[in-house]
Amino acid sequence: MVVTGDCRLLHTCEMCEYNNETDCKADKNEHNRWLVNKRMGDIKYKLIVGSNKGGVGKSTVTTNLAVALAEKGFKVGLADADLHGPNIPKLLNAEDVRLKSTDEGIDPYETTNGLKVASLGFLIEDPNMHIAWRDAVKYDFIIELLGNIQWGELDYLLIDLPPGTGNEQITIIDFIGDVDGAVIVTTPQELALLDARKMISFARDSNVPIVGVIENMSHFVCDAGKKYYIFGEGGGKKLADELVLPYLGEIPLDSDIVSKSDQGEPVVISLPDSPAAKAFLQLAENCQKFLNPEEVKAG
Ligand SMILES: Nc1ncnc2c1ncn2[C@@H]1O[C@H](COP(=O)(O)OP(=O)(O)O)[C@@H](O)[C@H]1O
Ligand SMILES: [Mg+2]
Repeated sequence: MVVTGDCRLLHTCEMCEYNNETDCKADKNEHNRWLVNKRMGDIKYKLIVGSNKGGVGKSTVTTNLAVALAEKGFKVGLADADLHGPNIPKLLNAEDVRLKSTDEGIDPYETTNGLKVASLGFLIEDPNMHIAWRDAVKYDFIIELLGNIQWGELDYLLIDLPPGTGNEQITIIDFIGDVDGAVIVTTPQELALLDARKMISFARDSNVPIVGVIENMSHFVCDAGKKYYIFGEGGGKKLADELVLPYLGEIPLDSDIVSKSDQGEPVVISLPDSPAAKAFLQLAENCQKFLNPEEVKAG
């Protein structure tokens, strides 16, 4: 017998512990909390990747970090929380993927190396169509992303945040309740650092532990091997020192990152010997060390 209460969440309502087959008194918010808790309970570490600013490489960093952890043998999920610019499908060459719903929720897309992925990009037909949603709809979608996707048992869930410190970020942190870490991505110039400081302040205010700061598009190495600090030198390190945070390293400005990203081939796999791939692997190790130092020693 299918009982749907006030929440009108259909199969969620059918699954949930409040449903005693005759009457369900739980409201939509209670169901949502129950559902997200149920999914998150199967995941060891939940990490957000943010910067407050757009275009600094959050999605690139999240994707490569996820792939790096998956390559190390961990069970990894990647949730694309950027509803206005869901870029993860493109970064994984999975733009044609469409997710399927089952009685228990929506199955994530699984890459060949076992990475489980969910994105609004997998649910909308036309990739060129804009999303113009008010906060209430975005709030509901974030709950779908965390609670209705069948993430299963994972070691890591990485969440690629949109720019800003608003609705999506607040909803994610509120519903997960115990986010294990925030990776702060910045580029070296003052304008990016200014926004990154706000992301750090937001994470601190929300009691999310900060794994550290990674500086993307750090420098350009020319054919003769000389380094050019196009956006200024050492901004990420200075920011980390100033705010007493770990510095997680630097990723060079590299045209291969652009072309491989556009082809949906994360450099961690497609160019494993590149300085960028090495920086992402180092970042993965830094995240592991931060979350579970014993695991790194044992591994
Ligand atoms: N280290 C880098 N070197 C060169 N291009 C980069 C680098 N990191 C990211 N990019 C490129 O910059 C653009 C923005 O990156 P993206 O990850 O989408 O940023 P965000 O998610 O912060 O908006 C993409 O075209 C990406 O390929
Ligand atoms: Mg992005």
